[in-house]
Amino acid sequence: MTPTLSALAERVSLISVSSTVKVAAEAGRLKREGVDVTDFSAGEPDFPTPDNIKQAAIQALADNFTKYTPVDGTIDLKRAICDRHSTDFGTSYGPNECVATVGGKHIIFNLMQVLVNPGDEVIIPVPYWVTYKDVVNFAYGKCIFVDTDESNGFAVSAEMIEKHITPRTKAVLINSPSNPSGAVLSDDEFRRILAVTASRGIWLITDECYSHFLYGDAKPYSIASEKGAKEAVIVAGSLSKTYAMTGWRIGDGLGPKAVIDGVIKLQSHMTSNPTSIAQKGAIEALRGPQESVQQMLAEYRRRREFVIPRLRQMPGVSCQNPMGAFYAYPNVRGAMSNLGISSSLEFAERLLKEAHVATVPGEAFGTEDHVRMSYAASMKELERGLDRLDNFIQQKKA
Ligand SMILES: Cc1ncc(COP(=O)(O)O)c(C=O)c1O
Repeated sequence: MTPTLSALAERVSLISVSSTVKVAAEAGRLKREGVDVTDFSAGEPDFPTPDNIKQAAIQALADNFTKYTPVDGTIDLKRAICDRHSTDFGTSYGPNECVATVGGKHIIFNLMQVLVNPGDEVIIPVPYWVTYKDVVNFAYGKCIFVDTDESNGFAVSAEMIEKHITPRTKAVLINSPSNPSGAVLSDDEFRRILAVTASRGIWLITDECYSHFLYGDAKPYSIASEKGAKEAVIVAGSLSKTYAMTGWRIGDGLGPKAVIDGVIKLQSHMTSNPTSIAQKGAIEALRGPQESVQQMLAEYRRRREFVIPRLRQMPGVSCQNPMGAFYAYPNVRGAMSNLGISSSLEFAERLLKEAHVATVPGEAFGTEDHVRMSYAASMKELERGLDRLDNFIQQKKA
């Protein structure tokens, strides 16, 4: 007898396919049909992985470094992760407080599985990275969303977080710089948040995916570097964006040994180790020359300086200045009402269908009036796409 659909486990109904992946798939489908799409949907550097990193992986293949490694990554990789974090942020993690994972998403998923009991609450500032909601739901946890103020650059404060704490709060999940808003927490505010969470025995999880991509005066910072923070903070890291290594799938977790051991236990039945040759590439990324990171940042800065003023000139569009990461998060409420569009989902769908520009609707990140546009695209693509967006908003023919 064929099992019925209801045979799927209940938890699968708690999550949906990532909207960013969905939009990228739709844009990909149109491209295969021959449509010339300008694609700003994916959060992916348009730069190739730096050559020294590629060479390290090629060498790993030549050396037959193609077998299982320890589940949590080789000791060399774990040392490289800890040393990089120490050099960049002044922390003092050792290999038994470190796990290498199959990308940054993997560590965040694993942490929720390891920390969250059914009904436990996880505090998440809005707008949030789309995956947070689903990974908390999949662990039968409850997302507690904290609204932020757009006119204040979507900044979250310790006070706002404190108001949402209950006896069921298990963790606060902070992503600074933020995907999608580009908001960057000040070091002082981060410290105040830690004071609130640590005094109540709540985990502070810091997603440092974009830590190196900052545009203002702020310097790369990790809350884990504060005195006494290590007991109460868990770092979720990723090499994907920093080193243009999205396809390699290397991320990491740094935290108290008991948490890391829990993640390793789960990983031992799930993925086992991250790909062996990708680990060798990651060691080179972390230990080798770091100039490429600054070069990419300089290019993102140049593009941001082009994109944000251009968006602000469009009728019915306003846009906060992103202080980090590589996304613009324009408010298109005015443009939507001019066009008789009632949701950002409809806006993004029509923009893709009619003007062939792929963006991600704000609904995916918990706000209704925005679309997310990645500016990790070439200047030429940005110019073309923004012209198309402008024409769409003004309903002009190109
Ligand atoms: C905020 C944030 N955290 C983590 C990740 C995970 O990246 P990856 O799984 O590619 O390492 C992403 C990727 O888009 C992200 O935007």
